[in-house]
Amino acid sequence: MDQSLTEEIKRLTSLGLHRRCVEGALEGVAAKTLEINRLKREKNAVVCAHVYQTPDIILGIGDLVGDSYKLADDCRKTAADSIIFCGVHFMAETAKILNPSKKVYVPSKNAGCSLAEAITGEDVRKLKAEHPGLPVVAYINTSAEVKAESDCIVTSANAEKILRKMYERHERLIFVPDRFMGANLAKALGKTPGKDIILWKGTCVVHEHFNPELIKVYRKNYPGLVALAHAECPSELIDAVDFMGGTGDMMRYVESTDASAYLLVTECGFGELAKLRFPQKNFIAMCRLCPYMKSITLDSVLALLRNPAPEEVTVPADIAARAKRSIDKMFELAA
Ligand code: 13P
Ligand code: SF4
Repeated sequence: MDQSLTEEIKRLTSLGLHRRCVEGALEGVAAKTLEINRLKREKNAVVCAHVYQTPDIILGIGDLVGDSYKLADDCRKTAADSIIFCGVHFMAETAKILNPSKKVYVPSKNAGCSLAEAITGEDVRKLKAEHPGLPVVAYINTSAEVKAESDCIVTSANAEKILRKMYERHERLIFVPDRFMGANLAKALGKTPGKDIILWKGTCVVHEHFNPELIKVYRKNYPGLVALAHAECPSELIDAVDFMGGTGDMMRYVESTDASAYLLVTECGFGELAKLRFPQKNFIAMCRLCPYMKSITLDSVLALLRNPAPEEVTVPADIAARAKRSIDKMFELAA
């Protein structure tokens, strides 16, 4: 076997990736990660990997890894010529808006998001006409056009903090598009949906269907279990868990605590990564796969590096300029 392939197999094994491969399969994974990493260097490209990607992508080829907030922040600072975004389209659009001189690519045409698809710029304009004068806060899981119509963007990592600040200056606001996250935030801030916070009807196809009754079953089976859920889950589910947050908050919670078991109510990639990062901890993944995130594979990244042009992400300049103002507002208020 070629020496560089042997070295790559060793590297992936040291990261624990052999544990998620059937006998003999690691060699095929290593051949792909080796070639992707070589092409990245040749083209001065970085791979951004959201934590819902598979571990072969995150650990094998990821340069910038994290939640939506960290990836947006990393992308505005990168010195690379191009960004290969292993995440969903709105994340890549955000990277392009924040760092327009870079070429940004998504290695799948199917990497959308049910929340981003739930609302258009026209919908936001209508909401503003129905509620004149109210500021619009948009979750980062929205198109560039929706961001351009908004006053401030939030991610799950900073939504509560930013809304708290917004309420110091405004009695009421519009929050789009996630009605569950909006209701969870309203509850945390003592606000009433429909009165203090106007919500839209969007939902995440991954987080909307978790069953809160099952958490009781898990608690009986695993004494000392700590349940963590993403803020996109419905309020009945959030009421049944010990911690609500974004993926970055959830990972930090796991790292800084010592429970007998953790129940992770979110996309499955998160649990896979947590198991590899903290092999001594006990994880129970009550998870669902995101079809959009999982449309990206090592093969699609390799194909993109060989022929990038069709997958380039572009944002019209006027929309990008207006969207950037609302994203910059997030960085200012989250600081
Ligand atoms: P995070 O910012 O918490 O990683 O969330 C992104 C997302 O799409 C969750 O479904
Ligand atoms: Fe969108 Fe939900 Fe997938 Fe996150 S998990 S990218 S919110 S569909």
